[in-house]
Amino acid sequence: MEQGMKTVYLDKLWQQGQDFLGVRYPVMCGAMTWISDYQLVKAVHDNGGFGILAAGNMPPDLFEAEIEKCITGLSGPFAVNLVTIAPNFKQHKEVLKKKEVPFVVFAGNFPKKNDVKELKDAGKKTLSFASTMSIAEQMIRFGIDGLLLEGSEAGGHIGHVSLTILLQQVLFKQPAVPVFVAGGIAAGKMIAHTLLMGAAGCQLGTRFVLSEECTAHENFKRAFIKARAREAVETPQYDKRIPVVAVRALRNKSMEAFNRLQLDLLEKLNAGTIKREQAQLEVESFWMGGLRRAVVDGDVDAGSLMSGQSVGLVSKIQPMAEIFEELLSEAEAELGAVATRLA
Ligand SMILES: Cc1cc2nc3c(=O)[nH]c(=O)nc-3n(C[C@H](O)[C@H](O)[C@H](O)COP(=O)(O)O)c2cc1C
Repeated sequence: MEQGMKTVYLDKLWQQGQDFLGVRYPVMCGAMTWISDYQLVKAVHDNGGFGILAAGNMPPDLFEAEIEKCITGLSGPFAVNLVTIAPNFKQHKEVLKKKEVPFVVFAGNFPKKNDVKELKDAGKKTLSFASTMSIAEQMIRFGIDGLLLEGSEAGGHIGHVSLTILLQQVLFKQPAVPVFVAGGIAAGKMIAHTLLMGAAGCQLGTRFVLSEECTAHENFKRAFIKARAREAVETPQYDKRIPVVAVRALRNKSMEAFNRLQLDLLEKLNAGTIKREQAQLEVESFWMGGLRRAVVDGDVDAGSLMSGQSVGLVSKIQPMAEIFEELLSEAEAELGAVATRLA
């Protein structure tokens, strides 16, 4: 796609996002562990968007090699997503500090003040998620340069609050830094309306999985094509004695087995035949390697099919250029229609 596509209305609304990210279109492809590799980052970058490399819990040498590919292969800005709760987080941070990567997005948990400082001192702009206004304010006090509001409609590890509420709780309060919004966005029209509400840009994940350039296993993509929005569900937690990290994924055999495991463990807990720590360990270890099994090996029964509810809005694999063209032309047309209604 020609990056010169005319986006007159969009340019008026998302200039802050353009200036902040340094890209033509402040449409971010959210980092997706095992999915957001150099190839996906490059496809987004080549179409004028903003790509984010996912660190997940990659071995540090592999992580460094992927970063190097981005540095040498891309002519414009991109980010690296660091998962603060990953066992390799500290090593990732050290690798990243030495690399010429312009942006870092903290995921997992909220970053500590020192994490933000260290990466800013290393010359990077920093972004973090924020799930309430007070967290947004705390992040800004820590020196964060931009915020991501991600609604619970999103795929992967999620918060508990939908984007509709977060927009009112945080975006409408106009935090002092650019705010990018995510979760459930797959259409250009939706991008247009979030910009009207004050977003600096949008982040999409699920829709980009169905790009030709995305290297996810074809079985994983096929599951996305078939799925309806209501099949992308949050893993339930049945009892607070066995906490479960909220993840949105497509229903499959593995998810049913996980739910049965929880109920089984609860029965044992109640009967006193198992200790709480043991139950917690079994729950935590259940999904180990689950996303990799689905995305890399293509095992859609045993793996974790992390996906947002926006899966119900996508039904085919498309070249990245076509996805961008659709998103942008739809968004621009919608803003034109709004301008006409208000004229
Ligand atoms: C398979 C999958 C893996 C993800 N992994 C990560 C991750 O490693 N780090 C992160 O910050 N977000 C992760 N996300 C969230 C995305 O970056 C993005 O914010 C989300 O997909 C947006 O919602 P949408 O899917 O409705 O567009 C993941 C999402 C999916 C679907």
